[in-house]
Amino acid sequence: VGVHAVTQSEAGEVVYLNGQLVARSEARIDPEDRGFLFGDGIYEVLEVQAGLPLFAQAHYERLVRSAQAIQLSVPLDKDGFLRTIRELVAANGVEEGLVYLQVTRGVAPRSHAFPQGEVPPTVFAFARSQPPDPSLAQGVAAVVLPDQRWYRVDLKTVNLLPNVLASQEARRRGAYEAILVRDGVVTECSHSNVWMVRGGVVYTHPADTWILHGVTRAVTLQAARQAGIDVREEAFLEVDLWEAQELFLTSTTAGVVPIVRINGRPVGTGVPGPVTGQVSRAYRQAVEAELRRLREES
Ligand SMILES: Cc1ncc(COP(=O)(O)O)c(C=O)c1O
Repeated sequence: VGVHAVTQSEAGEVVYLNGQLVARSEARIDPEDRGFLFGDGIYEVLEVQAGLPLFAQAHYERLVRSAQAIQLSVPLDKDGFLRTIRELVAANGVEEGLVYLQVTRGVAPRSHAFPQGEVPPTVFAFARSQPPDPSLAQGVAAVVLPDQRWYRVDLKTVNLLPNVLASQEARRRGAYEAILVRDGVVTECSHSNVWMVRGGVVYTHPADTWILHGVTRAVTLQAARQAGIDVREEAFLEVDLWEAQELFLTSTTAGVVPIVRINGRPVGTGVPGPVTGQVSRAYRQAVEAELRRLREES
């Protein structure tokens, strides 16, 4: 972070733009940024608890993987990424919240193919306070919608229009999330991964090109397995949803969230189920372990 770094007390919200912390009101992105014109960019969202960004290594690795797949280079190495995020969190005094970081293919005269010559990527990030929503623990409603996205949704790109439309349709119908279905197969949700419990076994779609490889999904998988829960990375069908004993979703900002209604019908008994409870506790323990590790490190 450069010499012009400012803090929140001087300038309100402080954001990171191309190597510097600046007042949000001073942050300017060129209208011919390829992120704006083409959605030609990638992003990450990290959770902050007790002022500490969680699972930053996994988020950095996913960012680099997304970047490589679209032939973009991330102008931050792992240490630079971690430092940037920590400084941004500190500058904004975020205790509970999130960090958003986006990298685009930079500014160039509008033309679909990559710009010729050296164009520096644009890197933008913000950190924001967002206290956890305790009502999520009581379970949320979801609706089932077609998965209208492209074939590489494992890449965390800013091309989110199908996700935006699905999320809006869910909200219009009074639901928190949209469960997406492609060719009869449940993939994931508009901004989270989805899991089903049947016969005491937990199922979630394998981490291939048809879902985003959620960091929370990976942490939850490992934590649930360590807790002795039978978890299988096997796809399930839309028809299975109607018979599911329990459903839940996972995401960075929400954690493990029970789904208690789909398309207006109760899931199982219509209240958060026991397996979801076990998985949720296992996930919270993994978060506690991560917080302990981060505190020891600092
Ligand atoms: C489409 C989609 N799937 C899954 C997730 C969950 O991923 P993570 O646990 O890394 O937040 C997200 C997060 O925003 C998402 O947008």
